[in-house]
Amino acid sequence: MWQSWYIVAMRSRPRRNRKSPVVRAYQRETTVGPEHLIYPLFIHGGDEDVPISSMPGCSRLSPAGLVAEVEAARAVGVNSIVLFPAIPEALKTADGRECFNPDGLIPRSIAGLKERWPDLTVVTDVALDPYSSDGHDGIVSADGRILNDETVAVLCKQAVAQARAGADIISPSDMMDGRIGAIRDALDAEGFAEVSILAYTAKYASAFYGPFREALDSAPKHGDKKTYQMDPANGREALRELALDVSEGADMVMVKPAGPYLDVIRRVRDACELPVAAYQVSGEYAMLKAACERGWLDEAKVVEESLIAIRRAGADVILTYFARHFAAWLAGDRTAAR
Ligand code: PBG
Repeated sequence: MWQSWYIVAMRSRPRRNRKSPVVRAYQRETTVGPEHLIYPLFIHGGDEDVPISSMPGCSRLSPAGLVAEVEAARAVGVNSIVLFPAIPEALKTADGRECFNPDGLIPRSIAGLKERWPDLTVVTDVALDPYSSDGHDGIVSADGRILNDETVAVLCKQAVAQARAGADIISPSDMMDGRIGAIRDALDAEGFAEVSILAYTAKYASAFYGPFREALDSAPKHGDKKTYQMDPANGREALRELALDVSEGADMVMVKPAGPYLDVIRRVRDACELPVAAYQVSGEYAMLKAACERGWLDEAKVVEESLIAIRRAGADVILTYFARHFAAWLAGDRTAAR
């Protein structure tokens, strides 16, 4: 009988390496733990935490809310955060100058956190959009163009103000040309040679940022971001941006968004020696949350799978709004779901 002959002759049976949790663990290639996560947090100057409707479980945090959230994250092993500020309209200008106010929301928040927890790793975002009356990451000219070099000069001041307040890692998300080298020089000139730069290297012009812009009221008032953020259709362009950021002195590079761009993460991972970060953005969070809230997906399992996939693609570090809750779940019974 052909069938039984074939089965007898089948010496290689991959299922043997899946037969029990212990044996499965032998061949598990990818892990994800709190040490791989950076937790993005939204802050504002108000006294209340204000829930963000399109990002269930996330709020614009008050100063007290920020402290409570960081405390809870640290308790489950997440010791890196990145801060995003919601700035009142009255402080927004065409040149976004509030971004380098030494008494602004971000410098005050960093100083407060570092005073309390000197070993907390604080990452800051460098771009003008939270501070821009146009809602763009750069300065907009009278005829609607984004001015590159004028913007870079302001970003350097923003980076120095953040470093002076105690930021550990400066993270330019603006996608202007030449900003990594310029910010490196500005930091070094002011005595901040130890402050790192995590470059948003391949940041795509993505519709998955929608909930984030709602969270910060920072959507562009006109036009889109396609003259500075990358076309989702492109992979080679990411490698061109990577070569520039590496040559300009980036310490770490980032791909954003993460889930829909796993191929780009892999290409960047294979093309450089630096740590690679990936940002599981607001829209990725909102999609998973919405399905889980309806009971259509199992949250703990699907979040872990999404993070494992990003790590498997080649990311060393992941920025994710799930950081605290995922780490809490890991700190519980992490074998139960396997
Ligand atoms: C702004 C910035 C954005 C995000 C991080 N920094 C939005 C944008 O570029 O429009 C998006 C993050 C997210 O969607 O979670 N420079």
